[in-house]
Order: sequence, then structure tokens, then C-alpha cells
Amino acid sequence: TNNLVIAIDGYSSCGKSTLAKGLARKLHFIYIDTGAMYRAVTLYFLRNNIDLADEEMVAGALRNIHLNFHSRDYQTHILLNGEDVSEEIRQMQVSQQVSEVSALKAVRDEMVNQQQRMGKSKNIVMDGRDIGTTVFPDAQVKIFMTADPKVRAERRFKELAAKGQNSTLEEVFENIAHRDYLDTTRKESPLSRAHDAIILDNTELTEEDQLQFALEKIEPFL
Ligand code: C5P
Repeated sequence: TNNLVIAIDGYSSCGKSTLAKGLARKLHFIYIDTGAMYRAVTLYFLRNNIDLADEEMVAGALRNIHLNFHSRDYQTHILLNGEDVSEEIRQMQVSQQVSEVSALKAVRDEMVNQQQRMGKSKNIVMDGRDIGTTVFPDAQVKIFMTADPKVRAERRFKELAAKGQNSTLEEVFENIAHRDYLDTTRKESPLSRAHDAIILDNTELTEEDQLQFALEKIEPFL
């Protein structure tokens, strides 16, 4: 097949999903938010007191988790066993556990498998941490996003505050640093730049600048 895969990876709160959604809208591609999948699994684990050290319990939980996306103008909603958990998975409690849950091999194997099936023979924009390295190593376009950690924390803080969540700027900064640390140091497909990924540092770029930058890289493949 000649489908096109755009892989967007990078650190936490770098604006990956903003860019990915913008590209999907412009190109009429399917957007897949893999972070939302790990967050939904984490929410299920929290609700059901799943012990991360208990492999059988984890495997059993994974068998009971069914994830679905439904998309309204690229504002993707994620369903956990039929329930729309799009809002709940953004809460701090989930953010504080998600990197521990997503470091488990059983969790990664299952999610990567589902992601590969979702992207098969379709034009997609997928964002996450291991898309260009593990999920779609043959993606035609790979972008690796980064930005100053303070700027990232401020952006995310404003976003959460606008939604009425009362985390402090310091908590948000700590959480981003914590996730970056776990995500880059874990054993199973750690966050790293694929050798053929283009770096996009957006500390001082507008959303429109980033979109133009990415579209220029994608253009030759359209
Ligand atoms: O993208 P988002 O920040 O929502 O992802 C939440 C967490 O899920 C990340 O910090 C990371 O631990 C995990 N994740 C992952 N692999 C992906 C996407 C997300 O491990 N492809």
C-alpha cells in the first residue's frame, strides 16, 4: 500500500497533539493520540487497584480493557469500555501514574499492537513517545519535538487552569520532569529520537510556524 504515516514524538507537553491535530485537519488524515491510550489504561488500573508488580493481575486487566476512539473534527474522544473518559484522563492523578504504567512490557506490547493495527494502510498522524522508533519505524515523516521545560510547564499550567483544574505551576513542572525522566530511562522502548527524525524545537515558535515547518517536510510525500 502507499499510505502515508507521520510520526510525532517528543517530551511531555511539547505541543505534539496540537501539531498532530493541525496536520490531520489540514491533510484530512486520521489522528491517533497514543498518550490517551496509555492514560485510559492508567485510569482503569487506578479505578481497579491494579498492582503493577502483579503480572497476572496486569494481564487480566489488559484483557478487560477495550479502547475506542471517536473523532469529532479531530477533537478525539477516547472510550474506555464504552465510557467517554477524554476529560478524566487529563487529571493530575492519572498524569502522576501514567509513566509507571506505560513502562510495563505487557502494557506496551498490547498498545503497540493496537496502534499498528489502527494505522495499517491508512493515512495517519500519530503522536507519542515511540512512534518513529517502535510503532512505525518505516514512517515516511518523523518529527521529534522538544521545548524549554519551563515554557512547557507554563503552557500546560495555563491549559489545566483554563479547564478549572487547580494544580500549581510547580506541580505541573515536577510532573513533566518526572515523566520525561521515566519515559527516557525505561527499559521498554524508551523515548528517544529516531535517527531519521527531524528535530522541532518550538520554544519560540507559534502554532502556525510549526504547522508550516511540518507541512514543508511532508509536501514531497503527498
Ligand atoms: O502524550 P501524553 O503526555 O498524554 O502521554 C502520557 C504518558 O503516556 C507519557 O508520559 C508516557 O509515559 C506514556 N506514553 C508512552 N508511549 C506513547 C505515548 C505515551 O509511553 N507512545
